[in-house]
This record gives sequence, structure tokens and C-alpha cells, in this order.
Amino acid sequence: MNEIIKKLREQFESNLSEAKDMDSLESLRLDYLSKKGKLSDLMKELSKVPGDQKKEAGMLINSFKQEVISRYDSKKAQIIKFQEDLLIEAGESYDDSMPTERPIGSYHPITLVQRELEDIFESMGFDVEDYDEIVDDYHCFEALNIPKYHPARDMQDTYYLTSKNQLLKSHTSAAQNAILRKYGKALKEEGRPIRAVFPGRCFRNEAIDACHENTFFQMEGIMVDKDISISNLIYFMKTMLSQVFGKEVTVRLRPGFFPFVEPGFELDIQCLICEGKGCSSCKDSGWLELCPCGMIHPNVLKYGGINTEEEPYKYTGFAFGLGLTRLAMMKYGIKDIRTFNSGDLSSLSEFISR
Ligand code: DAH
Repeated sequence: MNEIIKKLREQFESNLSEAKDMDSLESLRLDYLSKKGKLSDLMKELSKVPGDQKKEAGMLINSFKQEVISRYDSKKAQIIKFQEDLLIEAGESYDDSMPTERPIGSYHPITLVQRELEDIFESMGFDVEDYDEIVDDYHCFEALNIPKYHPARDMQDTYYLTSKNQLLKSHTSAAQNAILRKYGKALKEEGRPIRAVFPGRCFRNEAIDACHENTFFQMEGIMVDKDISISNLIYFMKTMLSQVFGKEVTVRLRPGFFPFVEPGFELDIQCLICEGKGCSSCKDSGWLELCPCGMIHPNVLKYGGINTEEEPYKYTGFAFGLGLTRLAMMKYGIKDIRTFNSGDLSSLSEFISR
């Protein structure tokens, strides 16, 4: 048996040294280690060995088999390493701790605009609030002075849930009542003015096109204190917009109707491209409609638990509803509103991460 194994070892070593790639190594494995391979044949030889030598011969065959397996394993590792070295030499590099190659992400353009506005408002003493997307009829409409069957409801058709009078909020104004209630106590007891912005996702049952989406973002803001007037509203809007656009902006107010403000306005900014002369961006008017706003209607303040009578203090306030989606379109020159929810990374990843 010793002789047979010796010969087979020589043959195996010579075959092994000839195997230069995975294919030839695999045929070598089949040749020696498979069921029909040379080592199985060797085992069959065992039957011819005299009984008293069987044990020793069996041990020899087994240790030779282990030797073949371990020589095969180290040759396999050697070939893999050799192939990797070739790739590295050819300029390929890789980090084997990385599962896959992933591109670096970037923030969504609406997130960028939202964060920028939050910073600006925080620097002006505003609190930033988060609010639910599912609300009830009372908060979305009635607390905003829009009773049931009021025609103003037609402008904001949204999605209704089958349970508990709930719906997807059609505007961020739906949070006004909760914010007034949350901060009203500090206003009355400590004289701390209510100053809050609340960004959020809104929903409307819209026919979708390049300018209309069923899902979009707004940022609502309110300020309530003693003696708040339209001048305060104009000052805050002008300061905030000058920071957003990085230069002094000129604003104007036009009358606008919203049941929750009285008086209500549409705030326009003078076109930044033509400086009011008229161009294609402002449809030759020199102005861009940017943000509806107004003085909070006394009913809305009352529903929010804020006193509107002279005694002990008469509180007033302003509110505005900025279209974050619209602002992002203006700021980044996005022509089609559907880009935002498209999940199309090649369009959305153009925006630098921060
Ligand atoms: N919530 C209104 C909408 O989505 C926008 C709005 C108008 C908000 C006037 C306000 C406001 O705060 O004062 O159409």
C-alpha cells in the first residue's frame, strides 16, 4: 500500500503543480476526490489487503486523503489570491468590508427648503412644530371658521377616511387650533407671544399635471400678541423672504379671501429676474404670487381659547401659509411638480447634500 500511495502522491503533486486556474483545479478535484475518483479506487484496493494489514492500510489511505484535501485547499486559496492580485494590478481596488458600492445620497429639495426656513424662523424667535397628517373635520375646517357646507370647502377637496370623521389634512392651517391651545397659557400668564411655524405634508384630491399634485408641502406660521398689526406681518414676511432669496425683496399685498383671516391677502414679491419690468417667469406682470396671509379671524382665536375682547387684553395675530413645494420649484428651477414624488433619483440627487 505504501508503494501505491507513494506513486499516487507523485502523480497528484505533478497534476497539482500543473493546475493554474479554478477550472483545472476543479477537474483535479473530480479526478482525485469525487466518488469515482482515484482515492475512492484506492479504498476499493483495501479489500485485497490481507486482514492483519487492513487497519494500518486504512489509516494510510485516510491520512493520504487528508493530505490531498489540504493540498487542494491551499492551492485553491493560492489561485484566488493570484487572481485578485491581477485585478488590483489592473487598477481595480475594493474594500471587502463594503457589501456593495452605493452612491452618496442627497437631501430632497423640499427638505432643503424646509430646513432653511426653519433656521430663519428660529432666528426670529419662532418655535418649530410638527403636526399630524390625519386630522378631523373640526381642526381642518370648523376651527378655522369654515362651517359644514361652507362653499370654501370646495377649494380643498381631500381624502376622507372611513372611520371617526377623519381626513388627510388639506392644509397646514389645520394645526392652528392646536398651536393656539398649546401656547395660549404662556401668552396669558407670562406675556410670551405665540410665534410658531409648522411645516407639513398636505393632500388634496387634484387632477395631477405639471402644476398640481395630490401630495405637497406647506409651512404655516402664526404670531399672536397684544397689538399685532398688518405692519408686523409685512415686516416678518419681507425679512424672511429676503433671507430665502439672498437679496432684498419688494412685497405687495392684494386682498384675498380665506375664511380664517380678516382681512386676508395674497402676498406677491417683485420678480427677482426682471426686477418688476416684466418677463416670461412672471408672465410679464413683474410680480410673483407667493404666500396667502392675513390677520387671524377673531373666531379662530376664540376657538383656540384666546381672548379677543378688550378686557383684560385684546389679542390679535397674523397667519401665513407658505407653499414649500412651490418655493422649492422657484428656488431650484424645477418645472414639473411631479418630480418631487417621482422617486427619480437622477433628477432629485442634483441637490447638494448638507
Ligand atoms: N391654508 C390656505 C390654503 O392652503 C393658505 C392660507 C391662506 C394660510 C391664508 C394662511 C392664511 O395662514 O392666512 O389654501
